[in-house]
Amino acid sequence: MGKRILRRSKTSKATAVSPANIAFIKYWGKKNSKLNIPFNDSVSMNLDKCLTTTTVEFNPRFRSDKVIVDGKELAEDKKLRVLNIIDLIREKSGVSYGVKVVSKNNFPSDSGIASSASAFSALALAGSVASDLTLSEKELSILARIGSGSASRSIVDGFAWWKKGANNATSFAAQIAPESYWDLRDIVVVVEKMKKKSSTEGHGVALTSPFFKTRQKNLQRRTLGVIGAIKKKNFLKLGELIEQEAIELHVMAMTSNPPIFYWNKGTVEIMNKIRKWREVGLTGFFTMDAGANVHVICLAKDVSKLNSRFKRLPEVLFTISNKPCRGTQLTNKHLF
Ligand code: PMV
Repeated sequence: MGKRILRRSKTSKATAVSPANIAFIKYWGKKNSKLNIPFNDSVSMNLDKCLTTTTVEFNPRFRSDKVIVDGKELAEDKKLRVLNIIDLIREKSGVSYGVKVVSKNNFPSDSGIASSASAFSALALAGSVASDLTLSEKELSILARIGSGSASRSIVDGFAWWKKGANNATSFAAQIAPESYWDLRDIVVVVEKMKKKSSTEGHGVALTSPFFKTRQKNLQRRTLGVIGAIKKKNFLKLGELIEQEAIELHVMAMTSNPPIFYWNKGTVEIMNKIRKWREVGLTGFFTMDAGANVHVICLAKDVSKLNSRFKRLPEVLFTISNKPCRGTQLTNKHLF
């Protein structure tokens, strides 16, 4: 995989657009919670319909730092998380000006889709280019990871493998295959119209689950299995492994101290329906991140059949059908 070296920009304003991603192998538990160094590798696919666009400008005229997301100024704790990345960029680039960050998501904020992956990857690219820093793909992945672990994977095009590494310099994502390699689909089946519950709490208590050690022991085999299934386009193998992984993540959450229950009635209903429909030849596989909504992974040929079935279920509020897509990109469509 070639490194993406970004051209130096002479402007102090830059805009990036970045996708959310669905984890086939989940990041759960942090070895270092300041730097988001994980206990295990993870694997994901970018989602083309779940995008964040972020414009960053450094300007000597800005008296204070401003962060606006979907039209509103961010609350102090969330703003500090963004400014932590901005400060790292200032440190690396030597730019000491005030900053304005404006960001918007193209997916409903109440759809339970994690916006931290798309948000921090877009911030890492827009911020570094706005400060005239030239970062490689690996360096961008590291910077995005410090904002939110899963953001390290959104930097990469298509299908990504975040290797846990041993320290800040060695924990970053790299490509398994580009977005055009396999026409997989992810139908996000929204069964809960709520802000996504924070994954931070889950990471924090992951180690208290009695199954944590067993998971770590089994994970390497499953991770290599998922990567092999992507490379060989073995859909049935991929599906089997991602369902095991999703169930295991949620069992870990439910058996942590305190326990966390992300599923609702709709989640269980969709899981059961998917298994039943497979018996009659309509093949999809489920996975869930830290929320109730179900991501159904299927082949392109089955999207409309599955979608029309989902829409008939009373628990389903709406669905979003995604294809794999490129990672974080620059755009000249600035938000201000
Ligand atoms: O990047 P975070 O801290 O929001 O953690 C993401 C956790 C999961 O979505 C549950 C799994 C993953 O790897 O994306």
